[in-house]
Amino acid sequence: MKRLIAGAAAVVALAAGVALAQDAPFGMEIKARQGLMAYRAVNIGVLAGMAKGEMEYDAAKAKAAADALVYSGKVDQSMLWPPGSGNSGNPASTAAESIWADGSNIGELSGNYAAAADAMAAAAGTDLASLQGAMEALGGSCGACHKAHRVPAN
Ligand code: HEC
Repeated sequence: MKRLIAGAAAVVALAAGVALAQDAPFGMEIKARQGLMAYRAVNIGVLAGMAKGEMEYDAAKAKAAADALVYSGKVDQSMLWPPGSGNSGNPASTAAESIWADGSNIGELSGNYAAAADAMAAAAGTDLASLQGAMEALGGSCGACHKAHRVPAN
């Protein structure tokens, strides 16, 4: 019984924590998708560092970073982008309303990213020249989506 009460108290505390975290509308969704993006930035940073010769080429590390970028494109993001969670109503987000507009090309741009990440995963562990050859398309696929669907940072 004591255990049950302690368990129930923990559940209530957890629920309160969740409610707090969501005080800002869509706070958790925005944090979650920005975290996914930060994960991409860390991993592409490793690849870019090697491509530019700022970091020693390491085939296993390059492949791991590229694989992480592939996985990040496969994660189900359907809960992370609710309509109304863009920058116009939420200053914490830089997501533009164009994401949710009729005929939005966000899906296509996501697909381009996934294809570029796949190509990098095939190249990164081979040798430095192959990694460098796949870099522009990959970086470009991030940039194309940001250009189209993020409000300019100010
Ligand atoms: C299909 C679209 C799309 C692709 C592809 C994409 N991003 Fe993003 N990214 C966004 C959007 C939209 C935001 C704004 C999210 C928000 O603030 O709600 C964002 C935000 C970010 C941020 C800022 C996160 C923060 O804390 O505010 C970083 C860093 C980032 N992206 C890195 C990347 C990198 C690196 C890649 C490629 C490896 C990439 N993104 C690919 C759409 C995309």
